[in-house]
Amino acid sequence: MDKLEIIGGVSLDGEISISGSKNAALPILAASLLSDCSLILKNVPELADIALMIELLNQHGCLTIWDKQLKQLRLQMRSLESLVAPYEIVRKMRASVLVLGPLLARYHEARVSLPGGCAIGTRPVDIHIKGLERLGAQIHIEEGYIHAKAPGGLKGAEIQLPFPSVGATENILMAATLAQGKTVIKNAAREPEVVDLANCLIAMGAQISGHGQNNIYVEGIEAFREAEHRILPDRIETGTYMMAAGITGGHLFLKNTDINLVSAESIVLEEMGIVLTPRENSIQVKGPKRLKPTNVVTAVFPGYATDLQAQIMALMCVADGISTVKETIFENRLMHVPELCRMGAQIDVLGADATVRGIEKLKAAEVMATDLRASVSLVLAALAAEGKTILNRVYHLDRGYENLEGKLQACGAKIRRIKGGEDGERRVFTEAAG
Ligand code: EPU
Repeated sequence: MDKLEIIGGVSLDGEISISGSKNAALPILAASLLSDCSLILKNVPELADIALMIELLNQHGCLTIWDKQLKQLRLQMRSLESLVAPYEIVRKMRASVLVLGPLLARYHEARVSLPGGCAIGTRPVDIHIKGLERLGAQIHIEEGYIHAKAPGGLKGAEIQLPFPSVGATENILMAATLAQGKTVIKNAAREPEVVDLANCLIAMGAQISGHGQNNIYVEGIEAFREAEHRILPDRIETGTYMMAAGITGGHLFLKNTDINLVSAESIVLEEMGIVLTPRENSIQVKGPKRLKPTNVVTAVFPGYATDLQAQIMALMCVADGISTVKETIFENRLMHVPELCRMGAQIDVLGADATVRGIEKLKAAEVMATDLRASVSLVLAALAAEGKTILNRVYHLDRGYENLEGKLQACGAKIRRIKGGEDGERRVFTEAAG
């Protein structure tokens, strides 16, 4: 397996182009199953998770042409080949469960492997299932698979979500576009990725309003039309590179992104002494000599993103004072703490709360992480640490950060990939993210 070698201590300086959002692209790719017309997507990031979603769609019968140079993907679901999303794919990427709503809506039947637990929490899919049942689906779990049927098709309904789950909102929203009549999704997720999915569905012909607010309204249609959509910039990648400038006292110009996607996170970064200057479709970021401490509580959008919690903790480790973190979205998302402590960080954890006593410098070590965001927090720590850090299990980063080492190298970072052989661990590890 590949490793990253990072020699810390360089203040980053340069320009980084932000890629399309992984978490917007994944449900949008799944939405292609709803239509027999072609869907052209632009700004598609070249990531392992995107490749896996394409593999899943291909086995359902969807034709895809991915021009990686142009970052363009063409999808067309002409004829169904399989109604099954197999365990072999779902276990590697939880977002595979997003094919359930589209398959059920269009073909009135689907069998999707249950994703199971993962490194950041148990992550059940009960809200997805209950929402689809409200649309008239008959669902039972057998031999690890969700068996769903809707003879005669789905019917619009009012659905009150007990929690604004991102994935459940997306699955129900996609299903509702082809259901007969009106659907209201109450207490829906408001994340920008949900809004991007709704915008793509609207471009395909769906009738949706209220996306980005608490209640989403859908009027079912009979069929879709050809469409083209540009994936929105990745707000988690944006926040991560803002923090890379912050932790190294550097100066980065982030292109192809929008500060409004990271409003809650920007407030925290400014409290830490990082200077942010919004420009047209870009953000200028300047890190201070020494970061100030801060307090973060993760929340659903528009609150502070759980996907940027591990990264901010790396910055807190070298801030001048005591910071705190409270993780409220996932029950087990502090797995980066013991690895940061191996680099000298002083962090105490009590349940979902962490107290971080800032020190002047972290020290390099050999580290590894159990999920995507935890891995990148170690990259941030390593960029600021004294000495040479070796980061194992780089495949986590390849799932969600396009060309991470290339982007950082271009800004002066001493980072390189050490190629390793396949040792099978990747296939055994079935976790996180996505
Ligand atoms: N939950 C339930 N039941 C459900 C669905 C969710 O209890 O049926 C719980 C989960 O266990 C979790 C919480 O609700 O504790 C939030 O889950 P949500 O459904 O909102 O998250 P998700 O759709 O599984 C997406 C992102 C995650 C991101 C979360 C929260 C994608 C593909 N994944 O996951 O991204 O952390 O929303 O914003 O969009 C990542 O990119 O690293 C990542 C983990």
